[in-house]
Amino acid sequence: MEQYAIKGGNPLVGEVEIGGAKNAALPILAASLMTDETVYLENIPDVRDTNVLLDAMEGMGVLAKRDERHKAVLNAANINTTDVKDEKLKRIRASYYLVGALLGKYKEASVVLPGGCDIGSRAIDQHIKGFRALGADVRIEFGAIKAKAERLQGSHIYMDVVSVGATINVMMAATLAEGKTIIENAAKEPHVVDLANFLNSMGANIRGAGTDVIRIKGVPRLHGTEYAVIPDQIEAGTFMFAAAITKGDVTVKNVITKHLESITSKLLEIGCEVEEADDCVRVVASKPLRHTQVKTLPYPGFPTDMQPQITVALAMSQGTSIVTESIFENRFKYVDELIRMGANIKVEGNIAVINGMTHYTGASISAPDLRAGAALVLAALAAEGYSTVDDIRYIERGYEDFPQKLQGLGAQIEVIETERDFQKFKLKTG
Ligand code: UD1
Repeated sequence: MEQYAIKGGNPLVGEVEIGGAKNAALPILAASLMTDETVYLENIPDVRDTNVLLDAMEGMGVLAKRDERHKAVLNAANINTTDVKDEKLKRIRASYYLVGALLGKYKEASVVLPGGCDIGSRAIDQHIKGFRALGADVRIEFGAIKAKAERLQGSHIYMDVVSVGATINVMMAATLAEGKTIIENAAKEPHVVDLANFLNSMGANIRGAGTDVIRIKGVPRLHGTEYAVIPDQIEAGTFMFAAAITKGDVTVKNVITKHLESITSKLLEIGCEVEEADDCVRVVASKPLRHTQVKTLPYPGFPTDMQPQITVALAMSQGTSIVTESIFENRFKYVDELIRMGANIKVEGNIAVINGMTHYTGASISAPDLRAGAALVLAALAAEGYSTVDDIRYIERGYEDFPQKLQGLGAQIEVIETERDFQKFKLKTG
């Protein structure tokens, strides 16, 4: 089984290019089947989640061409089913975006229920509530979510929790409903805005995405388009924290700095220097890191997908820090691995109390989920000595060329399969 072998201790220095946002690309790919015309997409990250979704869409009869690594040309004029059974889809959370897209276009959908990272119970009641408000009959049966409507009618929907997924799903279905839909307490994440922009470029009438009230006037059909996905806020944030954690100097290129504000402000608070230019941001960590408090919140708050990365940094800062996870209840599973690397962290429910220590030491660790996996790699890069990181398939779900991009910054990291490979890596880097 593949692992990362890592020799820690090198500050990461240099430039890194950020790819397209996974969490924007996924709903945009799904929404591409809402027109019979051809859709040309750019900046699609080549990561497992987008590839699984594209394969599943091809299985439904969507013609998908991926001539270039980050481009996709899709045509869904001849899809052969609205009953999506592809077992691989269970592994990705975003499979449920096919429900909103299919329900909007064909007024029926049946899709295997989503999986994704095990970071807490991930209800879909708000998705169901939204589809029902639009007039659909929705049932969970035989491990699938099934939605069907004679016709979809616009509605006024108040979301009980701020949910990225539910906002996106209801927005897609409402785009092709009759009349006007208002989604209140909508998620404001950049990927919600990106999907709205994409749908509008296909002829949809969506206003207010990026605020907590989204207004959608249903249109009878959508047309083809060309669209480039926004840069990945979380990939960028991960490399920004890589600089902080390894005491490095990293310029993160191809970003939208506005999307990074909450991340930048925490890096400044803990003592890093951050320089912003048009589409890049440089993070320099020349002084010891300071403690702080952070609570994850929906955008524009500090993203839950950056919680493990900031925890890794705070564990090696001066003083006591507190991290409160307010989005997912089970997102501190990786802390046991950090403790094995020398961190001093106590988790009580959704709060982690961190007493800073001076440095990590290498260990054999496992990635429990996507973002925590990436954060553990950063800890290993800062650690004294050698580490191995298992279960890297989680990391590959959302980070394209992660080891290669880190190597480009001077990291000593390699993909290995056997103990012999590990010994060779040690000889090479010793
Ligand atoms: C998306 C992101 C994920 C990110 C999360 C929060 C994708 C593919 N994934 O996940 O990386 O961590 O946003 O920014 O884009 N909830 C309900 N009922 C629902 C839906 C959600 O109670 O119907 C709750 C969830 O349990 C969670 C909170 O709302 O506590 C936020 O979840 P949500 O924003 O929906 O996250 P996802 O869309 O699953």
